[in-house]
Amino acid sequence: MDAQQVIRRCRELAECTDEPGHITRTFLSPAMRSAHAKVTPWMEAAGLQVTTDAVGNLRGVRGSGPRLMIGSHLDTVPRAGAFDGILGVMIGIELAANSSAPIEVVGFSEEEGVRFATPFIGSRALVGDPVNTTGVLDAIRDFGLDPAWIPRAVIAPEVREYLEFHIEQGPVLESLDLPLAVVEAVAGQSRYEVQFIGKANHAGTTPMNLRHDALTGAAEWIGVVEREGATVGWIAVEPGATNVIPGIARAGLDVRQAGDDERKRKSESILNAAAEIAARRGLVVEWQQKLDQPAVALQTEGLERAVAAAGFPVHRMVSGAGHDAMIVACRVPASLLFLRSPGGVSHHPDETVLEEDVAAALRVGEEFLRT
Ligand code: HGY
Ligand code: MN
Ligand code: MN
Repeated sequence: MDAQQVIRRCRELAECTDEPGHITRTFLSPAMRSAHAKVTPWMEAAGLQVTTDAVGNLRGVRGSGPRLMIGSHLDTVPRAGAFDGILGVMIGIELAANSSAPIEVVGFSEEEGVRFATPFIGSRALVGDPVNTTGVLDAIRDFGLDPAWIPRAVIAPEVREYLEFHIEQGPVLESLDLPLAVVEAVAGQSRYEVQFIGKANHAGTTPMNLRHDALTGAAEWIGVVEREGATVGWIAVEPGATNVIPGIARAGLDVRQAGDDERKRKSESILNAAAEIAARRGLVVEWQQKLDQPAVALQTEGLERAVAAAGFPVHRMVSGAGHDAMIVACRVPASLLFLRSPGGVSHHPDETVLEEDVAAALRVGEEFLRT
């Protein structure tokens, strides 16, 4: 099996971008269409029958009877690296090309939740929990797909289990000098859009004590978010001129915790702080929850056996990042194998992977397919 080809293809797909000079490919965007045009012949050369389902997942199937599904996502965060998600799809294609077993390889259309602030649109359709907001349905139609067919995207009864290969996206494996890890659970995550509403006014004539500045209110709150160990990944200000006191500040909040109770408590504490700051500053604050994803335990035995059979040390870990495996797991037994992230970097152009670790993952996949 050809680890170099897997890496080469990831880098080739990086050229399919909505933002020239960067790697940005979001849900059913023009760049996703060009990505499908590249991946489809690779899947066909591996002997797969390729279709695009009604939420834009690229599905390559071979054979009848019970089969393994190998998948990950083809979309990216803005200004991403070349391997987050894509690597798992390319490894799936390489394994399919070197095996005669019935198999399905899936390139999910949306895992990151960038375009509509709603993650897992691709894999949720496979488990019968489709996202059906107006924006998503319009995007599906604009891509030339028909939402009426979404129920047909559900995982076929022949799929006996799901396997995902993904970069760790953190520093653990590199610090232990290990190539691979078997993921035993994926941490839960909550995502919110929080909006502070004040009063736009003239920057030159409005005394400080008479201001209702939405941005400074949000800024004070973001300090609380940091102290609580959570993340604000973006902020948008209106009307957005240097000489106008911001009337509106909208922000994305991401709360991760291994335990669901702690995650809910932390989310509550952070949102209560927003309400207290807004009241003290004469602002209004509103929020909308965009994701409440519980932690999910994954299968480990089959992968541990395959890692050992391939001659690599077996290491288990919990994933702080979300993955499609945590969605698919509610429908079929799901396993997730991490590959080392050199520099512990991800969601950044410096994200990379070692050829020897891709070769190791392919060997593990070969053993897993044997079981
Ligand atoms: O944000 C995450 O957990 C993953 O990268 N989608
Ligand atoms: Mn990601
Ligand atoms: Mn990912």
